[in-house]
Amino acid sequence: MLILGIETSCDDTSLALLEVKGDLKNFSLKAISNVVSSQIKLHAKYGGVVPNLASREHLKNIRPVLETCLKESGLNFNQAKKKIDLICVTRGPGLIPSLLIGVNFAKALSYAWQKPLIGVNHLSGHLYSFLLPSLKTKNIKKFKEKQLKDIFPAICLLVSGGHTQLIYMKNLSQYKIIGETRDDAAGECFDKSARLLGLKYPGGPEISKQAEIFNEQFLKTPTGIALLKKLSKAKLPRPMINSTNYDFSFSGLKTAVLYLVQDLEKQNLLSDYKTILAYEIQNAIVDVLIKKTMKAAEFYKVKSVMLSGGVSANKLLRQEMFNATQNSKRKINFFAPELAFTTDNALMVASAGFFEYLNNPKQSFNWFSISADANLSL
Ligand code: KG4
Ligand code: ZN
Repeated sequence: MLILGIETSCDDTSLALLEVKGDLKNFSLKAISNVVSSQIKLHAKYGGVVPNLASREHLKNIRPVLETCLKESGLNFNQAKKKIDLICVTRGPGLIPSLLIGVNFAKALSYAWQKPLIGVNHLSGHLYSFLLPSLKTKNIKKFKEKQLKDIFPAICLLVSGGHTQLIYMKNLSQYKIIGETRDDAAGECFDKSARLLGLKYPGGPEISKQAEIFNEQFLKTPTGIALLKKLSKAKLPRPMINSTNYDFSFSGLKTAVLYLVQDLEKQNLLSDYKTILAYEIQNAIVDVLIKKTMKAAEFYKVKSVMLSGGVSANKLLRQEMFNATQNSKRKINFFAPELAFTTDNALMVASAGFFEYLNNPKQSFNWFSISADANLSL
């Protein structure tokens, strides 16, 4: 079965082709193509995504992105029309002006090609991203019942620009949110803190780069040790790290960064402290994410921990979460998506649509029943 995935929930226009076989107990996935047109440059000068600009760009890019996606798959328009069996599009959550472009484009294609259309939850796309096979090797990833039994139940930490959620996954079809952020998402905290430090958007990769500079050039030097000593008086908080639930809160951390930055600016010291602040911000966010995820993993006695969402591209988070699972008393597997599949992409949307299709074999999936929903929850 060949699935066309379409993603336009925020600032990435992405279309992908995924070849799938099998059922919920025994299936295989092959990535045929995944094209992402990023709008980062456009939004960077505003320090964040501007919804109406994003929508205009999606409208401009969606058709060329489809053409590139088909070309990379060795298909022309007529062959695609014949070979594609199912279309899946993100219908929420996200920015409504952005979602509407993808949803309406998908509806038009579904009508014109007479193919079923599934409206997918963007977050379930992130959940399944750890399953996706590499695009580079064009390998087929196969999952058998026994293997799936060794993976589930699992805890997935979904960390993106808009969400920070802990999800208990009983299996591929049954999952529930057990904790989420009460205010800012982890990615938002990276982005807003980066802005305070004068770094460009998106802030996550920038903070990570600066933190690495501190790690490599200063950490063990007398300057680094002196800076750390000075900063330890104003150590950044780890909000809700010891709370009894699985919720998160990052707005307090952002405010603490704001006060620290204002103080350093007054003393004209901000540029001296930029790398160490980035190092500390990253440590604070990662500490909270790991402690709470591992607490959930122990409580629910899961077999695996997974990462997903844009923030799961963070090297420190991936490394420390891996270490935490390896150091735990029980054996816990660790999964993280390939870097290209951490941020928004249409391949994950196609995979989420596949599982929705397997879970609802009798549904007809008509284009006219699909609508965009900015606040869709898992
Ligand atoms: O999943 P995503 O592409 O979009 C949403 O659905 O929100 O996530 C984007 C977020 C941004 O906040 C960005 O700063 C963050 O992911 N991010 C990172 C890294 N790469 C992207 N955060 C920390 N470290 C990174 N390396
Ligand atoms: Zn996302």
